[in-house]
Amino acid sequence: MKTLTAPLTLLIPFISFMTHGADIEMGKAKSGVCASCHGADGIGLAPLYANLAGQKAPYLVKQLQDFKEGSRADPTMNIFAKQLSDEDIDNLAAYYESLPANGKSSPAEKDDKAEKCEDEKSEKDEKSEKTKKEDKGVKEENNTNSEK
Ligand code: HEC
Repeated sequence: MKTLTAPLTLLIPFISFMTHGADIEMGKAKSGVCASCHGADGIGLAPLYANLAGQKAPYLVKQLQDFKEGSRADPTMNIFAKQLSDEDIDNLAAYYESLPANGKSSPAEKDDKAEKCEDEKSEKDEKSEKTKKEDKGVKEENNTNSEK
């Protein structure tokens, strides 16, 4: 038991350090300027503007810190990242991580659409069954005709 709890107690401060201070609402408030390229829903508005929605926060923090200090070079992002405090970066990362990666504003919306597609599909299937039956009927009629 001792061997099991020891690594866990070591992990707890580490986890709280990783998530400490990250505030999704504050991140959202800071994201206005980012939205003009990365989209209000975190989906990039142009092919070269990365999707940020649903990306892992620690990855986003690393990229933004790298842009800020210049070890990742991009003329645009270097400018924007330099204006961010470490806190801003944590909050923005938490905010973008919280957004659904498919750009839908809520998971429920996505489910509704999937259900609708299912409905449409089954309607179509019914229709094609019906057409098949009708075809069969015509064929049978033709058969009786030729028998005469
Ligand atoms: C003028 C357009 C523009 C604005 C505004 C902008 N970005 Fe970017 N961003 C880019 C481009 C272009 C890249 C890709 C850079 C590259 O190719 O290395 C990028 C890359 C990134 C990446 C790295 C993504 C990855 O998957 O590696 C992050 C994170 C990021 N931006 C966050 C932000 C945040 C946060 C803001 C607001 C503070 C912001 N950006 C504002 C254009 C922009």
